[in-house]
Amino acid sequence: MLTVALLASLLYSALATCPNGFDLMYGGECIKQDNKCYDMYAPDGASIARSNCASQRAIPVYIKSQEDNDYWLSVGRTDRAIWRGDPAYGNILLGIECSKSYPYYKWMDGSDIDFVPVGTDPTINNQCEQNGDYCMWYLNPVDGAWVKVCNQYQYVDMYCVIPKSPSPYQIDQYCGQFDINQDEDVCYQVGATPANWTEANSVCRSWGGQVASIHNTQDNSFIRRLAVNKGLINGLMLGAATNSKNVFQWVDGTSWDYQNFASGFPIDGLGGCMAMDTNNINGPWINLDCSTELPFACIRKLQQTPPRCDGTLRTEGDILFSPGFPLISAIPCDFLLEVPPGMLVEVEILFLEANSCCDHLILSEGSLGGGPVIADLTGDTNNGRKFRTKSQNIMRASWQPNGGVNVMGMMITFNAVPM
Ligand SMILES: *[C@@H]1O[C@H](CO)[C@@H](O)[C@H](O)[C@H]1NC(C)=O
Repeated sequence: MLTVALLASLLYSALATCPNGFDLMYGGECIKQDNKCYDMYAPDGASIARSNCASQRAIPVYIKSQEDNDYWLSVGRTDRAIWRGDPAYGNILLGIECSKSYPYYKWMDGSDIDFVPVGTDPTINNQCEQNGDYCMWYLNPVDGAWVKVCNQYQYVDMYCVIPKSPSPYQIDQYCGQFDINQDEDVCYQVGATPANWTEANSVCRSWGGQVASIHNTQDNSFIRRLAVNKGLINGLMLGAATNSKNVFQWVDGTSWDYQNFASGFPIDGLGGCMAMDTNNINGPWINLDCSTELPFACIRKLQQTPPRCDGTLRTEGDILFSPGFPLISAIPCDFLLEVPPGMLVEVEILFLEANSCCDHLILSEGSLGGGPVIADLTGDTNNGRKFRTKSQNIMRASWQPNGGVNVMGMMITFNAVPM
């Protein structure tokens, strides 16, 4: 007979199994050494690490806490000790790159760098060069600080990590990397790196959301708490802007059914964008110029449809991802987008990053393969574009990677529009 303890340990080992060649890390993640003492040319560091790890369905080292940092410090020190202090060993390459959506450093899973160990090069908070940041970051096994090297060769040790949570395959489930406000069934996320209005919009969209709208006091306090928990007490950009009649509206198209302006606001001439004063417990709103750079709040609908790639029909407003988004893009998948009879399907490309040589997102009319092709998309210049069916209420969106290396894949949503 199985005892409870035995059952528990069986269950634990089933959960704790890492793929072949990977070791279990302290936090439940699986890690694998990819390359030791690699003489890396700094400008290539991030992309080489990304593609090496992607082929094993993993990502380069990311560090979110002092505990993580201590762990990787001990890994680096062990490597260096084995090689008797040789400085070519034990420098742990970090999966940090210049974000393509706005010019700051990010972890490769798209998350903000919200922990930085003592002694780290302070330029980690500066703007970087989107179109060619010739730098890479590594953890120094002497003191655990992070070092930036640019335009030169540097010995590094590369590791790949399979994140425990959210796993690449769960990222699109429910709120993904967003926080859920249980009472409201909506998901909010806060971008900690200051951005102006245009940039905040493009970052929220690249996360499958929009800059946040707020519809009641609970939402307002929830967002304020998210911000304060990240130490953001100097204001937070919200998703409202003035229309041509100088009246504030939410950019996600929801109705203006609640407001919390600070007394006297909005003030004419101060600007057509809006922010929350997070330092005030009531989180009052003020208007300001749209070029102001602030942390910002994003909103995303709670995902109702499970993230399966089984040909089931999807419902309006769902956000659909290529399997493994944004870490892995090599898995093909067909989605059937259905709206009520008599309506047309309008799909919006929220984010597409595909290799122009060989990965395609093919939109076609109707549910059966072979319907007329509406669009055949690739590359990374289609974000925000919309496409419609001509006569049918179903569209097939077919993600057809052919390699899918080094790119994030696709994210789309759709709605019904009248014929
Ligand atoms: C935001 O910054 C970007 C790049 O720095 C710039 O192109 C854009 O015009 C700015 N938007 C606003 C509203 O100031």
